[in-house]
Amino acid sequence: MNVRHEIGIALLGMGVVGGGVAETLLKKPAVIAQRAGSSLIIRGALVRDLKKARAVQSPPFPVTTDAQHLLTLPEVQVVVEVMGGEQPAFSYIERALRAGKHVVTANKEVLAKHGPQLWDLAHQKGVQLRFEASVGGGIPIIAPLQRDLLANDISSVRAIINGTTNFILTRMARDGLDFGVALKQAQDLGYAEADPTNDVEGIDAAYKLAVLASLAFHTRVTAADVKHEGITKLRAKDFQYARELGYAIKLLAIASHTDGGVTVRVHPALVPQETLLAKVDGAFNAVEVKGDLTGTVTFHGLGAGPYPTASAVIADIINVARAINGADRLPPPPPPARAEGAPRLRSMEELNTSYYIRLNVHDRPGVLARIATVLGSNQISIASVIQKDADEAQNSAELVITTHPAQEARMQRALLEVAALDVVREINTSIRVEPV
Ligand code: NAP
Ligand code: HSE
Repeated sequence: MNVRHEIGIALLGMGVVGGGVAETLLKKPAVIAQRAGSSLIIRGALVRDLKKARAVQSPPFPVTTDAQHLLTLPEVQVVVEVMGGEQPAFSYIERALRAGKHVVTANKEVLAKHGPQLWDLAHQKGVQLRFEASVGGGIPIIAPLQRDLLANDISSVRAIINGTTNFILTRMARDGLDFGVALKQAQDLGYAEADPTNDVEGIDAAYKLAVLASLAFHTRVTAADVKHEGITKLRAKDFQYARELGYAIKLLAIASHTDGGVTVRVHPALVPQETLLAKVDGAFNAVEVKGDLTGTVTFHGLGAGPYPTASAVIADIINVARAINGADRLPPPPPPARAEGAPRLRSMEELNTSYYIRLNVHDRPGVLARIATVLGSNQISIASVIQKDADEAQNSAELVITTHPAQEARMQRALLEVAALDVVREINTSIRVEPV
């Protein structure tokens, strides 16, 4: 076995995650070297702004804005991409793989948009592309799907994989805060970005779900395949009504395999209060996987932050080092192309799901019957109706209706028809209900 004394790392990015990685590698070099079989040496770090204060002050390696130089250093065997964003991260990863360097990345956006191309390139070049930190931060979920759960046929992955939105939803549910106030708190505490669009619109979760679904179902799912809805339309009263009905509201990322097809979607959902997912609060993440052999297994922990994420990035680097040293020669297999036998991707319209609908109606006889007729004509059966907040002056009332499972396409059509009824002022919210 040809063991390298040192393995060189190029760190692309020294922000939250890159800072945590550098700090940890410098703080515990001996124990990491023992586990990797080689000393892991940072040969240089790429940043945008050389004047910015960093977690590691006076680093013992060059900090540069010259990507080309760093990517071509012969003493670098592993490129660690923790810059974020699609470009130039994608080009740098591609360049590194083409040059025969192993790559570790935390970048779900690049993987969700270009994963298949990069996996193929890594395979072709005989190098590793590892990405444990791309989903769930410090929660080990990529390696279990690539390795430990391989004997299973997985029927579903249901996940809370965006800490920012889970923090906001928790505050709305617990403290009755409105969306804008809870978002401001998330920004003040450093959870949400200055531009929180990707988080609150479900885009970040959709990227992560594309990665999870590719691995769970041994096929290739990209960001464009994932339907996503965000949390911006939810109001504090939805949480109150959901609680009365026995549910929490969570932004769920769901990939399910039924009738030979896979559906991938991100949207707010009513989740029964007694389930583990309903109890995942604050900035925590959880991923629930249902396998035919394991039954349900749930991974829970911190999905972000410098140290939880550094844990995943450094584990990937250690695994690459072990492979370089021959201790663990086989890289994990990439998800195969959409070959014969792989499940087809099903459209969201084929889904069967129950709904919670909150709507504002004119308060007069026959209104409920009109709504029920529209639902009935679309083969949607009502499970419960609660009338809330009648406003005599406005002659209006608020209705909360829950339905039995119905086909998504029919439900969407019925919602349009209900909204068009002259007795309906507005459909305020419609949220899918997840079974236990
Ligand atoms: P961040 O704090 O914004 O850090 C990004 C770093 O990359 C900064 O050092 C920045 O340089 C550098 N950078 C960005 N664009 C660059 C460019 N064009 N050229 C040179 N340097 C550039 O981001 P982060 O939170 O660490 O996230 C990094 C990645 O990890 C993302 O893909 C993210 O989704 C993923 N991730 C993050 C977390 C988390 O907890 N934050 C958790 C899981 C996964 P400057 O410092 O000079 O601006
Ligand atoms: N914006 C992400 C979140 C960070 O809130 O979960 C981790 O990917």
